[in-house]
Amino acid sequence: MTAHDEIIRLREELNTHNYNYYVLNNPTISDFDFDTKLHQLQTLEADHPEFFDPNSPTQRVGSDLNEAFVQVPHKYSMLSLANTYSAGDVADFYERVRKALNDDFEIVCELKYDGTSISLTYENGALVRAVTRGDGVRGDDVTANVRTIRSIPLKLHGDYPSLFEIRGEILMPWTVFEKLNREREEQEESLFANPRNAASGTLKLQNSAEVARRQLDAYLYYLLGETLPTNTHYDNLQKAASWGFKISDAMKKCTSLQEILDYIAYWNTERKNLPVATDGMVLKVNDLRQQKNLGYTAKSPRWAIAYKFQAEKACTRLNSVSYQVGRTGAITPVANLDPVQLSGTVVKRASLHNADIIAGLDLHIGDMVFVEKGGEIIPKITAVDKEARFMLGDKIQFIKTCPECGTTLIRNEDEAAHYCPNEDGCPPQIKGKIEHFVSRKAMNIDGLGTETIALLYDNNLLHNTADIYELKVPDLARLERLGTKSAHNIKKAIENSKQVPFARVLFALGIRYVGETVAKKLANVFRSIDALRNASYEDLIAVDEIGERIALSVQKYFRKEEHCNLIERLKAAGLQFESSNTTAAVSDKLTGLSIIISGTFTHHSRDEYKALIESNGGKNVGSISSKTNYVLAGDNMGPAKLEKAQKLGIKIINENDFLAMIQ
Ligand code: IVH
Repeated sequence: MTAHDEIIRLREELNTHNYNYYVLNNPTISDFDFDTKLHQLQTLEADHPEFFDPNSPTQRVGSDLNEAFVQVPHKYSMLSLANTYSAGDVADFYERVRKALNDDFEIVCELKYDGTSISLTYENGALVRAVTRGDGVRGDDVTANVRTIRSIPLKLHGDYPSLFEIRGEILMPWTVFEKLNREREEQEESLFANPRNAASGTLKLQNSAEVARRQLDAYLYYLLGETLPTNTHYDNLQKAASWGFKISDAMKKCTSLQEILDYIAYWNTERKNLPVATDGMVLKVNDLRQQKNLGYTAKSPRWAIAYKFQAEKACTRLNSVSYQVGRTGAITPVANLDPVQLSGTVVKRASLHNADIIAGLDLHIGDMVFVEKGGEIIPKITAVDKEARFMLGDKIQFIKTCPECGTTLIRNEDEAAHYCPNEDGCPPQIKGKIEHFVSRKAMNIDGLGTETIALLYDNNLLHNTADIYELKVPDLARLERLGTKSAHNIKKAIENSKQVPFARVLFALGIRYVGETVAKKLANVFRSIDALRNASYEDLIAVDEIGERIALSVQKYFRKEEHCNLIERLKAAGLQFESSNTTAAVSDKLTGLSIIISGTFTHHSRDEYKALIESNGGKNVGSISSKTNYVLAGDNMGPAKLEKAQKLGIKIINENDFLAMIQ
């Protein structure tokens, strides 16, 4: 391959990785491998200036621009840092700085927070703008979302400059990330691979109330402006801390290479105890004058460098791939591996996610594969060691039929997962649905664990959730491992479950995409299973946060006769299919009025406004038509809605007007 061919190939490959990372939020290569390839390309391009291309991936810092946000130019461009991965590279950096400065200097060591970077502008002590990095020159204005982050001060105190920028990292703490993924799993939404993706995805949401709910955090690490309080980076940040910013207390001033290496060694293990993700350390020359002397390359400052931790990696043999069928019929391919030690645990299995991932890896049985446990929780296979292939095993072909019931699998157009559509006849789906039904947050029937459900199923005593209410104590007591006492306890728990409120019963039914929160919403608005069954598509999407996907899924559920029969049997057994605490109408001040809610509010949440409309006799509608009487508009009302309302001559009121109406 000629140098030109190699340059073209690398550019194409890196462009694809950039797209996967920045646009799809779904990297398929480790940072280390990416940087290695980028470096190869940089070297080749430097050796062959005749092949210069302004659009080469070496000529930019990546982009997270999102069309839905207003893009604004950065006053000071947002550069990235040169990456290093070894103590040797750190020593080289130290040496370069020492030679260039030819004077005493301090290096500030900091943690490299692994989130999404942000630039905040403060004018006269107030936050006026928050902008993402974007392509480094222009970024997305995400001020409304950033305002919801509690650790970012909206007003400062103390002796701050009248105008400055401060940069930092927006993060999703591990605990929040895990909780969010559990919720998403319940709602069958795709999971975030790591807190970085979750933080950047959250920052790009169009709904700042949802952003607020996600509890992001932020650390600030770089102060910029024409008038800064001191002449050193370290002291500037200490000042910023006194104005109200969250500044890491893991910062340390070092005056020798050894001190830096000690810092790295210490935090290499200690970082695992931090509440947020870090992916390395950043070393910065402390003195601002010295920073200026060192200056910048086209992409990064010469006065700073990032030392990145390598994701812990292991190489092992792929023995087979098995396929698990979840309660919803989703098929998860799992790699069975020769056991291997990785970050303190023995790994025998790794998720392969879906058919596309398997095809992308070009996996064959017997391949030596690399397993990584970076920021991710479940280990994943990142690559195949093709050089280690001496005999090619069978290529992994994604299965065509369900491994449990033999039904032909389906794949929806916009989804990565394959499904077994035999939801009422496929054993793991049946058992999975029953397990979900009895789980703590649903019907809370203690004693009916996975094994007991499997036994009852195998003994032909349990085929669906309604059968639970027909179980008899002797049936239960006869089972292996279950005595009369446990049988009585289970029966009692089954009886008690008849008091479980409607919202949880609805959740227990296991309608696709109807998780705990959605079930609560639907139960609140529709108040009975019959009302929900009869709700039109428009009625459903009029409910806050219920979109097309959920609405269609609810309608599909009720179209199945088996489901309606099941509900009738459960009703007959005495389960709660109506909301009990019906909020009585408080007034009829809004009778006959159709009101649409748009934007975000300060006095009440959208749901509260919805409830207020209904309890005062009005109707809350989801879309504007000529029949709409009022638009209750908050901040950030969508421009399309505003235009339509104005065109139709519909009266727009704010929250104070509305509250006055129902006074
Ligand atoms: S300083 C000109 N300090 O790493 C220097 N960056 O590749 C500006 N990061 O885009 C960056 N922790 O998103 C700096 N303590 C820290 C950092 C940090 C994380 C991120 C930041 C930046 C990227 C550099």
